[in-house]
Amino acid sequence: MMEQDMEQILFTQAQVAGRIREMAREITRDYAGKAPLVVGILRGSFIFMADLVRQVELPLCLDFMSASSYGAGTVSSGKVNIRLDLQEDIAGRDVLLVEDILDTGNTLSKLVAELQARGPASLKLCVLLDKPDRRTKPIQADYVGFTIPDAFVVGCGLDYDQRYRNLPYIGILKPSVYESENP
Ligand code: XMP
Ligand code: MG
Repeated sequence: MMEQDMEQILFTQAQVAGRIREMAREITRDYAGKAPLVVGILRGSFIFMADLVRQVELPLCLDFMSASSYGAGTVSSGKVNIRLDLQEDIAGRDVLLVEDILDTGNTLSKLVAELQARGPASLKLCVLLDKPDRRTKPIQADYVGFTIPDAFVVGCGLDYDQRYRNLPYIGILKPSVYESENP
């Protein structure tokens, strides 16, 4: 699907599924006896989160929030706005924040600081992808699906200009796709 727009397929559907299964096992083990609140950051996390939580064997609750930093481009603006806040009160709860990708860390360090201020019992971060080469903030994820090089990737929830989120694999987008649209 839309493979002509891909420079390279980084992780196949089967590889992604296999890794998410492992992450779910680890989370099930680490939170044994607890009932975490799993918080997805919209929109990018929704496919990863759905695949993950269906394999976590815990009595968990779900909530969502939304922040923005990228707009239509492929370069972070450096500013983060909370567009949609949680419905749940997280004070005293074990919160697992789920995001598609940890890139510069701008978005997540802002969100983590905001959530920490609300007094959760614990706060951990789970990302499908980690792009450590681009990090500008001192933040690490507790659970990482795959560490990737500095390339713009799409699929499994990740978009370019709201497209490609539904790709069942993770691919590097051909630069010609965005160069032709954002000269
Ligand atoms: P920062 O830089 O704040 O960015 O850590 C995190 C957010 O940026 C988006 N992002 C990407 N989206 N392909 C995408 O489709 C990428 O390679 C990529 N890198 C960063 C993503 O929405 C994430 O939440
Ligand atoms: Mg995102």
